[in-house]
Amino acid sequence: FSEELEIVDNKMGEVQGVPLPEATCEIWEQIYNFQAREDDILISTYPKAGTTWMQEIVDLIMLDGDVKKSMRSPCFVKVPFIELYPKPMPSGVQAANAMESPRLLKTHLPTQLLPPSFWEKNVKVIYVARNMKDCMVSYFHFQRMNQALPHPGTWNEYFSKFTAGNVPWGGWFDHVIGWWKIKDKHQILFVFYEDIIEDSRREIQKVVKFLGEDFSEDVVQKILQHTSFKAMKSNPMANFTSLPESVFDQSVTSFMRKGVVGDWRNHFTVAQDEIFEKEYWRRMEGTNLTFRTQQ
Ligand code: A3P
Repeated sequence: FSEELEIVDNKMGEVQGVPLPEATCEIWEQIYNFQAREDDILISTYPKAGTTWMQEIVDLIMLDGDVKKSMRSPCFVKVPFIELYPKPMPSGVQAANAMESPRLLKTHLPTQLLPPSFWEKNVKVIYVARNMKDCMVSYFHFQRMNQALPHPGTWNEYFSKFTAGNVPWGGWFDHVIGWWKIKDKHQILFVFYEDIIEDSRREIQKVVKFLGEDFSEDVVQKILQHTSFKAMKSNPMANFTSLPESVFDQSVTSFMRKGVVGDWRNHFTVAQDEIFEKEYWRRMEGTNLTFRTQQ
């Protein structure tokens, strides 16, 4: 991809008040009118919640644990990101349209912006949620290295921007609460990053069951091993090293950065934590959605 992706556009636009890349906004009609298929599987997340991890897990489930096949192409090629348009590469919509079924797809869209066809076709959705503090830290580092997104500024600046929802794909609260509220109205499996860290086997088994599969111990073992942080960090098809530095500058920080719960403690000051906690509980009031911020 290197030559074509020399100049990367990081301008942002907006759709219904949600900040999204400008190229996404330009083709918004096409994205919103995306035609889902009944046997699609959609992974939905707020950015940095463990999307790539779940992609590898579900891809392997769809392949009955065939590790070799799962390494057929980089994760961002085998799983179209429906609202992304990484010009001059094909848009996520084009990539998905060209794909044979069954398709595994990815989105970061909040519920109100999801193409309605996903609901109409009753597509199975796996939603991965991650505690807001670790999401903020992970997104801060990601925006430092992803040249297709605006630079995050200093950590202090980012703390305010992120808490206010002034980041690409909008606010964490709206996203997570929105998906939580509709989870029982559709075929949605709601999974927590912290739970997968705690017991990957248990959470992978939940996904296996949700997708109507039943594997032998041998297959489960293969999936577990191939989707560990260590394995994914050194897997060129999962760690995004096939993208040129002009897109993901992994000399700044690697995509597979730490993969832990609680790294926020190395970033938040005591004062920031106080401000955060106040805002967090104000916004989460009335939901029965709870997160763990430490292991
Ligand atoms: P950190 O930046 O905290 O390390 P996404 O795929 O949604 O962009 O999320 C990326 C985050 O998930 C990064 O978090 C990355 O390290 C973490 N991650 C990716 N694969 C993982 C794995 N196998 N185990 C644990 N964490 C993983």
